[in-house]
Amino acid sequence: MSPYAHITGWGMAVPERVLTNHELATMVDTSDEWIRTRTGICERRIASEDQTTASLATEAALRALAVAGLNPADVELIIVSTSSPEHTFPATACIVQDRIGATKAGAFDLLAACTGFIYALNMAAQSIRSGSVKNALVIGAETLSRLVNWQDRNTCILFGDGAGAFVLQAGEERSGVLSSVLRSDGSGSDLLTLPAGGSALPASLETVRDGLHYIHMNGREVFRFATRVMTQATLEAVARANLSMDDIQLIIPHQANQRIIEMAARSLNFPMERCVMNLHRYGNTSTASIPIATCEAAQQGRLHPGDKVVFVGFGSGLTWGAVVAEWSAPFSAQRREYPTRYRLYARVRSALLRLLRRLDTLIDALVWDRRQRD
Ligand code: COA
Repeated sequence: MSPYAHITGWGMAVPERVLTNHELATMVDTSDEWIRTRTGICERRIASEDQTTASLATEAALRALAVAGLNPADVELIIVSTSSPEHTFPATACIVQDRIGATKAGAFDLLAACTGFIYALNMAAQSIRSGSVKNALVIGAETLSRLVNWQDRNTCILFGDGAGAFVLQAGEERSGVLSSVLRSDGSGSDLLTLPAGGSALPASLETVRDGLHYIHMNGREVFRFATRVMTQATLEAVARANLSMDDIQLIIPHQANQRIIEMAARSLNFPMERCVMNLHRYGNTSTASIPIATCEAAQQGRLHPGDKVVFVGFGSGLTWGAVVAEWSAPFSAQRREYPTRYRLYARVRSALLRLLRRLDTLIDALVWDRRQRD
């Protein structure tokens, strides 16, 4: 029988800097009242100059490994879901792999915008279900504050920075990820987009001048789309897991807008008290919002082994999807690990590898030079 992908570790990292609605109102023509009533957001976190998507992702990953009691060297797959990667390439996941010292892991980035964590969770779970890996790290990480036009009140009020991570491990018992629904509709690709910097519109003086390296959004249309698909995806994923909504203890939705979540809960006839909400404190952290909300729910004792949970999200693409999971727990038989110590080992290892690579190049050049002279 194929193994199940249990969720055995979870961790989050958010920047210390808080940007309140009141402070935003001194930067653009808006007000705390407007933002709160339209979105539910009161404040968001903003990365400091030395914080990046990879640094937040690394912190979240190490915390998730600590909960799971897993050594980074046992991780076989790292997926970083992000729309604000460290670079176009290499993948942010490779930088995280190096920084935590996951010496046996494959690593890649996945881009499905705010739905990315749902997609990544599904991909990692399928890798475990197929038997190709036993342990995986799934990370959602963003520094969208770097991609927002701080003069555009339509978008800059919404987004925040942060990262969240899950450890998935193979287990015999039927638990962990039970079903998934992944959907897309590229006909709505213009509704939420960062137009320039890719192959369609490479960076140029004009693209910078026209503000095309910032997030552009048709808020009203995204709102309409979101309320429709949250309900659909949830019902479909629950049915695929052979469950009914009565079996679900918690919904952990993408934290974009309180009104969107309330409308979805109403149409699902699901009590709002059992929808995890923390967008008032973090804003929309895109693909990081679901794992961050999950970590806080776990810390608050709202998740117990055996609980059935729906993770549901939507975003640019357009993309949307849902995962139904049975909440697991760290594998008790596992030995205690202290993954933060691995950060130091990883740094030393990475520095040595870089040095060796340089030496190797130098020796090659010397040998080549000598051969040429002979
Ligand atoms: N402060 C004050 N006024 C603002 C404003 C702000 N930050 N942003 C927009 N407005 C103004 C608009 O200019 C407009 O003024 P006008 O009527 O004079 O043109 C008015 O408020 C209403 O704008 P509208 O876009 O209709 O507001 P809305 O009720 O749809 O709320 C959003 C706007 C963005 C909050 C809402 O559409 C939304 O949340 N959409 C979903 C966005 C989202 O979740 N994106 C991420 C998906 S992952």
